Amino acid sequence: MNILIIGNGGREHAMAWKIKESPLCDKLFIAPGNAGTALVGQNVNIGSEDFYALGELCKKENIELIVVGPEAPLVKGVRDYFESNPWLKDILIVGPGKAGAQLEGSKDFSKQFMLRNGIPTAKAKAFSVSELEGAFEYISTCKPPIVLKADGLAAGKGVIISLSQAEAKAVIKDMLVNKKFGEASSKVLIEEFLNGIELSVFVLTDGKDYVILPEAKDYKRIGDGDIGPNTGGMGAVSPVVFATSSFMQKVEDLVVKPTIAGLSREAIDYKGFIFVGLMNVGGSPFVIEYNARMGDPETQAVLPRIKSDLVELFVATAKGELKHQNLEIDNDHSVTIALVSGGYPGDYEKGKVISGLDNGSKTLVFHAGTKDNTKDIVTDGGRVLAVTGKGKSLHEARAAAYTRAEKIGWDGLYYRKDIGLDLLNYKGI
Ligand code: AMP
Ligand code: GLY
Repeated sequence: MNILIIGNGGREHAMAWKIKESPLCDKLFIAPGNAGTALVGQNVNIGSEDFYALGELCKKENIELIVVGPEAPLVKGVRDYFESNPWLKDILIVGPGKAGAQLEGSKDFSKQFMLRNGIPTAKAKAFSVSELEGAFEYISTCKPPIVLKADGLAAGKGVIISLSQAEAKAVIKDMLVNKKFGEASSKVLIEEFLNGIELSVFVLTDGKDYVILPEAKDYKRIGDGDIGPNTGGMGAVSPVVFATSSFMQKVEDLVVKPTIAGLSREAIDYKGFIFVGLMNVGGSPFVIEYNARMGDPETQAVLPRIKSDLVELFVATAKGELKHQNLEIDNDHSVTIALVSGGYPGDYEKGKVISGLDNGSKTLVFHAGTKDNTKDIVTDGGRVLAVTGKGKSLHEARAAAYTRAEKIGWDGLYYRKDIGLDLLNYKGI
């Protein structure tokens, strides 16, 4: 079958690479893609939110399956657009409709969803600009640190953790009154701080049944030792030592099952990924957030561990036939390092020539912000590459990933040197 992946990041390159392995995949298109996806499929210069052009492409190229990588087209209703068009409605889609994507698109919706369905999460209360005084009063009752979250999509930047009530009041005013995150912060959640260690859990569901993919740990801060500003993710590790089978059983029973049952009870037909960001608080899982897609860079660590045919899984998901699918994963460890432009997540320069790009035997190099200017592959974004190393142990996988990363160069290249180090030295929580 002909397949279209929507998106242009490292996650989409990893998906393209894995999809292309499947004997079920004929032609593979990526819209808009990057210099890496061009190596495994055909890039089409259509933005991920240009639904009309995506629909025309699907008709012209006889696309039978669409995989939506990023959240924005999901929240904007790409599935709803295709389903409402008689010429497009039979195309299989991995990714929820607008209603399901609210799990990521509105933190207030997802919080209420968790509360309605008895899913463990931090206590929170939402306020809009007309309720500023009430928000101040509520903050006066909170014990710092205090977590403030923009309700809408803010490209991973909408969460601010304040260390005092005074700071929290200043921040919430900036978010609500000065619209620090635009429309996304027209409503803000004030949330209790959860003290623990984070884990990313990935569920593929057809709305009734589900498979849980290998878990991962993400490293969000820019600097070694988890310091500095938040980024889209500076690295990922899978598997995760503290995600023991008894902990994962709790995640399945207390989070995954009630989430799927809640969606079904609320008549939200959900076919796609649910990425549960959770905190392990003394051995109990608490949901920090849902995403309606896979993680980046977690996908680049997780997919290389999956032995099953991804296209088979995707078709079953979209057709509501996941019940008959088994997930086969290997026991290897993956370590992924994000290679970024100097200055990221702030300002950075583009157009730097990248050297040392070939894949090695135990490593994979996934592209994100790259461009082929016909002479060279050059940087074209803040997040440029993700290097994944595999090995029989975390130690081996780290060594493979870092040895590979050292061979890559461009002017201003930066990456964290400590991805997975905390887990190597993990002594329990
Ligand atoms: P989010 O955008 O919801 O993933 O939040 C970004 C980051 O903020 C998370 O990865 C956590 O590190 C942190 N965070 C969010 N909510 C909480 C919370 N309730 N307690 C502690 N940390 C949090
Ligand atoms: N790595 C975190 C995310 O994809 O949201």
